[in-house]
Amino acid sequence: MKNLTIDPERLWGDLMETARIGATAKGGICRLTLTDLDRQVRDWFRTQAEALGCTVAIDDMGNMFARREGTRTDVPPIAFGSHLDTQPTGGKFDGALGVLAALEAMRTLVRAGYETFAPIEVVNWTNEEGARFAPAMLASGVFAGVFTREHAAARADRDGAKFGDALDEIGYRGPQACGAHPLSAFFELHIEQGPYLEAEGKDIGVVTGVQAMRWYEVTVTGQDSHAGTTPMPRRRDALVGAVRLVAVVDAAARAHANAVGTVGRMEVKPGSPNVIPGEVFFTIDLRCPDPAVLDEIERDIAENAAHTGQSLGLDIVVKTIWTQPPQPFHPDCIAAVRTAAEVSGYSTRDMISRAGHDAAYVARVVPASMIFVPCKDGISHNEAEYSSKEQCAAGAQVLLQAVLEFDRRLAERLGR
Ligand code: GLV
Ligand code: MN
Ligand code: MN
Repeated sequence: MKNLTIDPERLWGDLMETARIGATAKGGICRLTLTDLDRQVRDWFRTQAEALGCTVAIDDMGNMFARREGTRTDVPPIAFGSHLDTQPTGGKFDGALGVLAALEAMRTLVRAGYETFAPIEVVNWTNEEGARFAPAMLASGVFAGVFTREHAAARADRDGAKFGDALDEIGYRGPQACGAHPLSAFFELHIEQGPYLEAEGKDIGVVTGVQAMRWYEVTVTGQDSHAGTTPMPRRRDALVGAVRLVAVVDAAARAHANAVGTVGRMEVKPGSPNVIPGEVFFTIDLRCPDPAVLDEIERDIAENAAHTGQSLGLDIVVKTIWTQPPQPFHPDCIAAVRTAAEVSGYSTRDMISRAGHDAAYVARVVPASMIFVPCKDGISHNEAEYSSKEQCAAGAQVLLQAVLEFDRRLAERLGR
């Protein structure tokens, strides 16, 4: 098991090659889910997997499973992977590393002729980012039974395009019912997207769970009116109300040591310099390991929305569109990652994930856990996002060893 070593150059080559699909001028990637660029990277992934002798199954949410058989065909596969969609100003590693490292691990097994006990599958989950269709982790959510496929199919982007139609347009609605694909376990490698591993000089994060998160959509309605002629006391300016609430989100999150709050998208209508804005739409993203803190912040926002609405003559509707409780990972998977890091000679740190990941939904129905590697200055969701070739390779090596460790224990339990 120790002699199986992934090839850092090959992995880096795949990262840089796929980064050309949707490459931005500042060195990042814009590859929004279910766009033609997403189709291109999916086609690339399928071609690579098939060249390794894998069979690629696709479900009706567009999730892709590239399978290599094990010695036992009656045992569900051990899966590893992540996502190939990105944020509008995404980096080269968020998601891509998890899929391409799993592909490289698969290549290592194929080239070595190593026979696993369980089948092994590389997974590409659809719409992890939620940048185009809210919420994030939509397709792994359907896989886990959190959302119905009808709910997912009806999600619309800001131009009104539906998730289901976009899936058909790129030709990636597969025949398999999403969720009807049993797995023995799921492992996801990801860049940390935060500063702790780098700051402490640790190689590998052994991820024990994911913090709670909630998304809201807020619509503030006032009245469009002339910017020059409407006296200040007569205005019902939706943007002034929205800005007050943005400040409340920031202050409420800062009041709790472990909480974060973000307004990441705002649309101002009608959007003319000399028209007082009559309508503003914005999103809120709240996260904290403790959901009771999120309840408190949520109450704060609701109270302030009522007060702001009243004092400025605005109608403010705050809609919760996504609630994700904290998700612990499975002890067997966590143990496999810890052992894998040890046998590979890497230093580790236990941590929870502050970002959302498909593994959090998958963990509801399948034993799952994650592996983190450091990223430069803790920067992510940014074109400058960077992890070195060595850091990516360390993560991929631990990913491979974790899967093999889990496979070995599965074989012991079920009998070869
Ligand atoms: C996923 O990228 C998230 O929002 O954490
Ligand atoms: Mn990601
Ligand atoms: Mn992301």
